[in-house]
Amino acid sequence: MTQPRKIIIDTDPGQDDAVALLLALASPELDVLAITVVAGNVPLPLTELNTRKIVELSGRTDVPIYAGCAEPMDRKLVTAEHVHGRTGLDGPTLPDPKIQLQPEHAVDFLIETLRTTPDVTLCPLGPLTNIATALQRAPEIKENIREIVLMGGGFFEGGNITPAAEFNIYVDPTAADIVLRSGIQTTILPLDCTHNALTTAPRVAAFRALPNRAGPAVAELTDFFERYDKEKYGSEGAPLHDPTVIAYLLDPTLFETRHINVTVETKSDLTLGATVADWWRVTDRKPNATWVRNLDADGFFKLLTDRLATLP
Ligand code: BDR
Ligand code: CA
Repeated sequence: MTQPRKIIIDTDPGQDDAVALLLALASPELDVLAITVVAGNVPLPLTELNTRKIVELSGRTDVPIYAGCAEPMDRKLVTAEHVHGRTGLDGPTLPDPKIQLQPEHAVDFLIETLRTTPDVTLCPLGPLTNIATALQRAPEIKENIREIVLMGGGFFEGGNITPAAEFNIYVDPTAADIVLRSGIQTTILPLDCTHNALTTAPRVAAFRALPNRAGPAVAELTDFFERYDKEKYGSEGAPLHDPTVIAYLLDPTLFETRHINVTVETKSDLTLGATVADWWRVTDRKPNATWVRNLDADGFFKLLTDRLATLP
């Protein structure tokens, strides 16, 4: 058997982040070295609390959790309670977690770990503040990063927080720009892909029917999360954005990709945080990212449900 792939998940839970964490923690192909937490969907005190609740739900309390940046690199934090609810994790009632945060700041942890541990994949599921801050402070850590696989951006689907920008990139465009210019191999799961990972009544029923704690909890998370997108897009359910990052690591054959240039708008008020994806290769800008355009949604939900079934 091949060695499990070493990953660090950087996250801002968020119901879809929570499902991504559960998928990763249920998957033996992945060695989750740590979870680092950032402000995004809600402020940092809530994203770190939500992360501890989800890790406890998974039964994987061996995985250390580090809290990181409370504010984007050079602008005020924008949050998304209108999508995720006041707590960021509205839906199920989860017990107060017993596990504690590690004392170290997430950025210090990332720098120390990536200086000494080779072949680590970073999985950002929120604004890129922690990752870009670590890269800015210690550029040599690039050597040990195998790949960054992130959820963010949109091109064919436009934006979701503004007409032009997707939430994770919009919250910290400077950080996204640093990551995309870093030269590190980067794979992007944008709205173009995640808007096809839609919860439907039968898919949620399959979560709810699992004879464990995690399945019904995921159904309650998606029950809450769905109401916003159903109303906004008139869609059948909600896109499970962040779990696509983990599914991509587990089975890349479920995804349609192209290696292209992606550049982030960091100046314009109108289109701040837009990800300009040269899908048709009409510029001579050098490809710097793998852009994921679509996925096999049935295959994705089967993988997710099968893995959730292995949790307590
Ligand atoms: C992204 O923004 C957040 O609301 C979700 O957790 C996801 O990471 C989707 O735009
Ligand atoms: Ca997220």
